[in-house]
Amino acid sequence: DLRNGFDIKRYIRTIPDYPKPGVMFRDITTLLSNLHGFRAAVDELAWPFLKGEIDYVAGIEARGFILGGAVAHNLGRGFIPIRKKGKLPSRVIGQDYALEYGVDTIEMHADAISKGDRVLLVDDLIATGGTAGAAIDLIRKSGGEVVSAAFVIDLPELGGAAKLKAKGVKVHTLVSFEGH
Ligand code: PRP
Ligand code: MG
Repeated sequence: DLRNGFDIKRYIRTIPDYPKPGVMFRDITTLLSNLHGFRAAVDELAWPFLKGEIDYVAGIEARGFILGGAVAHNLGRGFIPIRKKGKLPSRVIGQDYALEYGVDTIEMHADAISKGDRVLLVDDLIATGGTAGAAIDLIRKSGGEVVSAAFVIDLPELGGAAKLKAKGVKVHTLVSFEGH
């Protein structure tokens, strides 16, 4: 699991039974707070896209902002926030997605992306793929092309990465955890 000599996985902390019994919460705050860890994570998310084939990085609130903002800076590209409902001030487009119980909505400014823009989607973790799938739908509704979706953590048992691949999106992940 060495990434450029740094063991990213070792810096992710697991909290059993958070937020509810039976869930193993993968906590990236311990990775982010380590100076080498944050840099390694951002560099490793960004490297496949260094040749400049993307126009924007889009990050998903909240944890995807921390990583996506840094990846955008690393690549020398602009950043587009995809936010939880009701947070963006100008005209938005929205997309519902399924939660374990009920639905939620994410939004993006309607004019953030133009037809043909090539977008890299960034979030900290992919589980069921509901959140990232909705973000992909939003980018595509605006005429954007999702070049790839990049995550620090994959939980393959929950099927999110496979779901995105089935939507025709390349998936780039750094570490994976079995068991949840
Ligand atoms: C978590 C995580 C991803 C999403 C993954 O975010 O940061 O965004 O869930 O789950 P999925 O693949 O099943 O959709 P969460 O909504 O818990 O909140 P936060 O990022 O605002 O902390
Ligand atoms: Mg999140």
